[in-house]
Amino acid sequence: MKDRELIAMSTRTQMEHSGTGWVVPEVAARSHANAIFPCIQDVLEKAGISLQDIDYIACTEKPGLLPSLLTGMTVAKSIALSLWKELIWIDHIEAHIFANYLEREAYDIEFPAIVLTVSGWHTEFYLWKSMFELELVGQTLDDAAGEAFDKVSKMMWLGFPGGRAVADRAAKYRLRYPEKIHMKRIFPEVLLDKDSLDFSFSGLKSAVKREVDERIQRASLWSLTEDDIDEIAFEFEEVVTDILTKKIERAAKIYSVKYILLSGWVSANSILKEKLQAMSKRENFQFCAPVKNVYSMDNAAMIGIRAYYELTKSKNVI
Ligand code: KG4
Ligand code: ZN
Repeated sequence: MKDRELIAMSTRTQMEHSGTGWVVPEVAARSHANAIFPCIQDVLEKAGISLQDIDYIACTEKPGLLPSLLTGMTVAKSIALSLWKELIWIDHIEAHIFANYLEREAYDIEFPAIVLTVSGWHTEFYLWKSMFELELVGQTLDDAAGEAFDKVSKMMWLGFPGGRAVADRAAKYRLRYPEKIHMKRIFPEVLLDKDSLDFSFSGLKSAVKREVDERIQRASLWSLTEDDIDEIAFEFEEVVTDILTKKIERAAKIYSVKYILLSGWVSANSILKEKLQAMSKRENFQFCAPVKNVYSMDNAAMIGIRAYYELTKSKNVI
């Protein structure tokens, strides 16, 4: 980053996990350790600079899988110590939220705002009171939204992480049967109490599992047909995105905010963004999500932009 501007980024995805169906901490840490130096070299080459040219090093310290975090922290600390550079520790969730500032001006987001953080580990509502003041106002009581996508994907043998695979299958079904979009959903829309900003996805997950098992039994097959997979993916994505949209509307009304934001990798989901855009237009909210899908997934630019704003705090230069 040069101030708020992204100069170069290097990202590695962990495809080692596609066969397991979940994240194995040991595998993740080893994969991090193997990827980190080629990534550093790659990004320096892309930017056309050397490590000595860098003023600050920012690194995420929490929350997340400890073995993977430790890999990044150890490398960041070693570089900072050996080159006498200032080190800035960043909270991963805050970084996902600040990804909304990438390619936007600070004044493009007005406070207070409601942020929904949706990822493989988190489904949380924050009331964003001012740039450095976040208050947790709701969260999942069981699975995270991304985790639910991953589990549904696993039930239908679509690989890991599953969000993208389920969304792709759902998109195919939506194209084939557009009339189904407005029909009654087959899975339950769990919204909890009238004023609750919490989430629960475990009932929905069980309903999907029952549907998968019933369809397999009914057809006397060992697995689902391709059409069944597409339909279940579609029904699941529709109901999850409806739940998230209705809850965001509820949160924005409870806290009387004008700005609603998405963060976390599930914010790359295009149906969710479409529904939030439509709802915001209807209710007169301002909706923001990271401007590019690469800023929604885990990435270095979000760590960089959070670090930039951290520095503006001490140097008073927003
Ligand atoms: O932000 P992230 O990497 O996780 C944490 O840092 O916790 O998010 C990963 C999650 C996975 O569960 C993945 O299935 C989901 O984001 N995901 C999606 C999409 N792309 C990724 N979920 C729904 N639709 C997508 N297009
Ligand atoms: Zn993340």
